[in-house]
Amino acid sequence: MRLNSPQINIITKACMKASRLLIRDFGEIENLQVSSKGPGDFVSSADKRTEKIIIEELQKAHPDYGIITEESGVHNESNKDNRWIVDPIDGTSNFLNGLPQFAISIGYEEKEEIKCGVIFDPIKNEMFYAEKGNGAYLNNSRIRVSNKKKLKDAMIVTGGPRSSSQIKEKIFNEFVKVSKNIDIPIRKFGSAALDLAYVASGRFDGCWQRELNYWDIAAGVIILKEAGGFVKFFEEDDKAPLKKNILASNSNIHDELKDLILKKNIE
Ligand code: IPD
Ligand code: CA
Ligand code: CA
Repeated sequence: MRLNSPQINIITKACMKASRLLIRDFGEIENLQVSSKGPGDFVSSADKRTEKIIIEELQKAHPDYGIITEESGVHNESNKDNRWIVDPIDGTSNFLNGLPQFAISIGYEEKEEIKCGVIFDPIKNEMFYAEKGNGAYLNNSRIRVSNKKKLKDAMIVTGGPRSSSQIKEKIFNEFVKVSKNIDIPIRKFGSAALDLAYVASGRFDGCWQRELNYWDIAAGVIILKEAGGFVKFFEEDDKAPLKKNILASNSNIHDELKDLILKKNIE
C-alpha cells in the first residue's frame, strides 16, 4: 500500500475486519439458494452485521466523526466537517444470488469534499483506493483509466435501481435509445461502486447511471478522479442531495459519452 493518510488506514482496517465475516456469509449463500427459505433474511442480516463491524471500527478511531450509512442512516449528524460515507455491501442482488461481484465501499469527506476512498471486493481480494492528490491504486499497483480515444471502440457499463418507479421506465427507454444510437457493448454488472473502480482501472472505458445514492459512489468518485478520469453529475436535484445521476469515463471519450446520454432528442 502506497498511501498512508490516517483515514485510509482506518478504512482499510475496517474493510479487512468486516470482510472476514462477509466471505463466510457469502459461502453460506450457496446452501441457502437451494433451501426452501431462500437467502433473503440472511442477506439482510449479513448487510447489517457488516455495517455494524465497519461502524464500530470507524468509531473506535474517531468517535466524533459523522457517518452516513445505507443501513442505519446518519450517526453524529452535527459533525459535517468529518464524515465517513459507508455502503457495507454494494451489489446486494449479486450477493443474494451467489454472484461474486459486490464490494464494501467507504469514502471519507472533509468539509463536504471527498478526500479519500476505498472499494474492497473481498472475494477477488481487490482493494481499490485513492487519496486526493496522491493517485489511485489497486492493491499495490497504480491504476489509470483507459486510453481509448473514441466511444465507438469503448465498453460501457450502466445499471438501474432495484425499486419499481417511474424512473425505471425512463432508465429502460434511455438504455434502448443509447443502444440504438451506438453499437458498442454495454454491460450491467450490478455494483455501481465496482463499476466506477473498473472505469478507474481501465477495465471499462465509461459508465453512466441514474438514481444512485451518495454511498454507492462516494469512494468511487475519488478513485476515478485520481486515476485520471472525468466525472459529471447531471440533472441534480437540490431537494435530494444524496441522490446522484453520474456519468464517468476517461477524458478522451467524455464529451462523446455526455452527448450520447444527455442529448434530449436521441431516437
Ligand atoms: C445498488 C448497486 C447497483 C445499482 C443500484 C444500487 P446496493 O446498490 O450499486 O449497481 O444499480 O442503483 O442501489 O443496493 O446493492 O447497495
Ligand atoms: Ca449500494
Ligand atoms: Ca448496499
